[in-house]
Amino acid sequence: MSQLLVRGGRALAGEVTIQGAKNSVLPILAATILARGQVVLRGCPALRDVDASVRILQSLGCEARWEADTLAVDTTALNSCGISDILMREMRSSAIFLGAILARCGRADISYPGGCELGPRPIDLHLSGLRDLGTEIREEGGFLHCTAPRLTGRELVLSLPSVGATENLMLAACGAEGVTVISNAAREPEIVDLQEFLNACGADVAGAGTSSVTIRGRRPMHGCEYRCMPDRIVTATYLCAAASAGGEIFLRGARECHLATVTAALRQAGCTIDSDGTGISCLCRQRLRAVRPVRTAPYPGFPTDAQAVLMAALLRSRGATVFEENIFENRYRHVDELIRMGAEIRVAGRVAVVTGVETLSGAAVRCTDLRGGAALCVAALAAEGETRIFETGHIDRGYQDIAGDLRALGAAASRTE
Ligand code: UD1
Repeated sequence: MSQLLVRGGRALAGEVTIQGAKNSVLPILAATILARGQVVLRGCPALRDVDASVRILQSLGCEARWEADTLAVDTTALNSCGISDILMREMRSSAIFLGAILARCGRADISYPGGCELGPRPIDLHLSGLRDLGTEIREEGGFLHCTAPRLTGRELVLSLPSVGATENLMLAACGAEGVTVISNAAREPEIVDLQEFLNACGADVAGAGTSSVTIRGRRPMHGCEYRCMPDRIVTATYLCAAASAGGEIFLRGARECHLATVTAALRQAGCTIDSDGTGISCLCRQRLRAVRPVRTAPYPGFPTDAQAVLMAALLRSRGATVFEENIFENRYRHVDELIRMGAEIRVAGRVAVVTGVETLSGAAVRCTDLRGGAALCVAALAAEGETRIFETGHIDRGYQDIAGDLRALGAAASRTE
């Protein structure tokens, strides 16, 4: 079992290059199923969830090969349209393969992805959109047997802008006859990245980044070379790390336009943040101030994935900050661990109130989920003494080398096996 050891109290100084975005790479890997020929993904992060996607592709008969940070995938030899229950359970976002397999094979057999650390993870919107495109779905003992001999494009209206449903339906629509319009689509930058990837493979997708995405289906799709966008949540994490510990850092490759709500909150708290075409710098010299209420919302609102790390950065601020979590039910599981370090946080339903304290102290804490685990690292940087962080497997789902990155930024962080 690996642990992360972080010794707090040291101001940060340094630079790291931001890894490729997990939430972009995962749907792109599913999308490779639509392309005949080799896809070369540059700057692909080596993450547990990426590994799980690669194993799903291999189980379908596809080839995938790493060379440094480049992942080459060739799905020409795909010879199966089913994903085993074990592989489905390994990664909660595995449902994203459904649309792509259906578009390519006309049928798909997968198990229900089920709930996750953040609470129930329904895929009803994915399924009703796929049904509207002409898929027959039989649900049986936790399995979904889907057949779609002929997908047909039409207007699909999402009742809420689900990221995963938008992506899944974009992939299915690439294999549908005619035009599909997804209304009330999610507007996240990762959806734009998926559109750019699909178009680089020969698809005809427009409108990503707005609430209406149009897909003209059945275009011949081929391989391509592609570089995924930088990870905006990893960027937010390291900005919060600098805010928490103090100091000055530079995040190479990061794009501020993807996380304007996060940088706005950090500026309000007292950080100086600048960005240009090469990256984002962050300078924090004084004790932070509490900020106006932070309400998570679909993009361009404040990202739910950055809620925990911002909360961790504000634990020693002056005053109280209110957080309101509006996307996932169970997203305050890191709070009890932060309290072990001396934080003052009260949770009532979807609201958490953080009152800044003078000091935090190192403790033995446990990761409860991916971003909650990252939040423990952020808090540990500001704590007196050493923090031992257990169950780091959660962090490995989304951060390629958090200890190495924090060391490059001047922190005393290491990993023990
Ligand atoms: C994606 C991100 C995740 C991020 C989330 C919200 C990936 C791989 N993961 O997850 O990191 O936290 O967006 O920004 O990109 N919902 C339904 N029915 C559905 C689908 C979703 O009720 O069929 C609900 C969910 O329970 C949740 C909300 O919609 O409350 C948002 O979920 P969604 O946008 O789909 O998130 P994911 O795509 O799962």
